[in-house]
Amino acid sequence: MTDTLEATNATRNDRVKVWDPAVRVFHWSLMTAFAVAYFTADDAGVVHQWSGYAALALVAFRLLWGVIGTRHARFSDFVPRPAKLADYVRRMIRGLEPRYLGHNPAAAIMILFLSLATAVIGVSGWLLTTDWGWGSEVLEEVHETTVNIILVAIALHVGAAIYESFRHRENLIRSMFTGYKRR
Ligand code: HEM
Ligand code: HEM
Repeated sequence: MTDTLEATNATRNDRVKVWDPAVRVFHWSLMTAFAVAYFTADDAGVVHQWSGYAALALVAFRLLWGVIGTRHARFSDFVPRPAKLADYVRRMIRGLEPRYLGHNPAAAIMILFLSLATAVIGVSGWLLTTDWGWGSEVLEEVHETTVNIILVAIALHVGAAIYESFRHRENLIRSMFTGYKRR
């Protein structure tokens, strides 16, 4: 009985809460909103537009949460200085990158890029529905090219999450659901 209790406590002490519920709900909602907008893009109707606005609103929320949110949600916790990023990338190339409890410096840059690109797609999409931007070929180009670029970035993002999960022997994707990581 004592053994079981100790084992349970050890398991509990092994894990630490990293991602708060807002970060987790944000992430999977953003992924869903993006996927819905992407797969309804052909007719660019109401569902396409509202799922795109949802993605935009989620990114706006995340910007705020990056300032007032919990420890590992804050930009100050994970946005690296250039020297730190360069050092991390050098170590990554040699397969010696350290493990981070929050976002690592390379992931941080990818996260900023994904958020920015989502904002560009959302705002250009909205402008395409206004009198000012309706029918603009430039805006269409911005909207669609940014989608093509973000698709490559998403593939890298998911690939990196899987790679880092193997490297550090912890399931980072599960952590985005549970909020917990290995201490
Ligand atoms: C199957 C698809 C996806 C998987 C498996 C996935 C996985 C992950 C994981 C594991 C993290 C945490 C990274 C870390 O530990 O540092 C993360 C963070 C993040 N991902 Fe994804 N992701 C997916 C799709 C997307 C998409 C489509 C977007 C944007 C359009 C996106 C944007 C982000 C952002 C902004 C964060 C930062 C979360 C935060 O701090 O609030 N992800 N993702
Ligand atoms: C993350 C969100 C979004 C994604 C992934 C996305 C993706 C796309 C893609 C791939 C197309 C090209 C469809 C094609 O030519 O077959 C498209 C077109 C379009 N989107 Fe979006 N979009 C998003 C958000 C929005 C928003 C917020 C709006 C407006 C409120 C919008 C309005 C439009 C319009 C009007 C078109 C048609 C443009 C044209 O005539 O070529 N989109 N979108």
